[in-house]
Amino acid sequence: MLKISAFFFCTSLVIIAGLLIHFNSAPVKADYVGVQSCQSCHSSLASGSIFPVWESGPHRSALQILDTDSAQAYLQSENISIDNCLQCHSTLGRKGQDEFEKLLHQQGIGCERCHGPGSQYIQSTIMKDQEMMERFGGSSGDLADCYSCHTKDPSATNDNHCPFQTSPFDAESAWATIKHSRSEESFR
Ligand code: HEC
Ligand code: HEC
Ligand code: HEC
Ligand code: HEC
Repeated sequence: MLKISAFFFCTSLVIIAGLLIHFNSAPVKADYVGVQSCQSCHSSLASGSIFPVWESGPHRSALQILDTDSAQAYLQSENISIDNCLQCHSTLGRKGQDEFEKLLHQQGIGCERCHGPGSQYIQSTIMKDQEMMERFGGSSGDLADCYSCHTKDPSATNDNHCPFQTSPFDAESAWATIKHSRSEESFR
């Protein structure tokens, strides 16, 4: 009898430990929500005017720039489709499929391209805690990630970089152009 209950005791310990590990480390499946969902809390002056800064910056128009005459002429002369450009000129890295993705696509390179899909971390209680934010699929932003689209020195490499990027890129100094931060008296 004692042996049997010891067996069940040990088995339940193993199951409980397994569940704890599962819930603490399993990656959560997060979906995109679009910039309009970040706008409500990250627009005010007191919270750093982050949304307006993004909206008037280069990433907002990253998709539209592919409609310009020079971009269209390039596609025609190379006889390639716009799909070859979307990897770096959009949030999804491809065209949108359903209605929501099409809306997201029109937003260019949105917040979530750099901060992760927002559906799981979007509550302020989670965002106030950097570690929690990461656990729920978010990221505080990382300058190293700029190089997934911008090339350090386009004249010195053969890797897949934009045919229109002609000057060298340095993330630290480029950050000054798109810099956004919460001010000291940020909303809490
Ligand atoms: C309900 C309000 C609300 C919404 C909606 C919201 N945020 Fe936040 N966010 C906050 C608050 C509050 C903080 C923490 C500010 C503080 O501590 O000063 C924060 C902090 C952050 C941070 C900094 C986290 C860190 O590293 O400390 C990032 C990045 C961020 N938000 C991105 C986003 C993105 C992207 C969206 C849209 C997908 C979004 N937020 C939507 C309220 C919001
Ligand atoms: C590897 C990522 C990447 C790919 C692929 C890519 N681009 Fe770009 N594109 C960029 C970056 C980064 C910039 C900003 C470069 C800069 O101004 O320094 C840019 C800028 C541009 C600009 C604006 C240039 C200007 O002078 O303002 C145009 C137009 C453009 N790309 C067209 C295209 C076309 C057309 C394609 C597909 C054939 C394409 N890009 C593929 C990353 C990419
Ligand atoms: C998903 C790809 C992608 C990522 C990631 C990305 N960019 Fe860009 N960036 C672009 C594209 C495309 C353009 C050109 C858009 C346009 O001209 O409208 C651009 C334009 C710019 C420009 C204006 C042109 C220039 O070179 O002066 C700056 C500044 C910039 N990005 C800074 C950054 C910084 C800093 C980071 C990292 C925090 C970053 N970018 C991450 C794709 C990206
Ligand atoms: C091209 C990439 C990129 C885009 C697009 C972008 N961010 Fe960021 N964001 C960053 C990086 C990188 C940092 C951290 C920079 C650093 O290391 O200080 C950051 C920092 C932040 C912070 C923390 C600021 C602080 O004071 O600590 C918030 C909040 C934030 N972003 C919200 C947003 C929101 C909201 C949007 C869309 C309206 C957005 N970001 C769009 C790259 C981006």
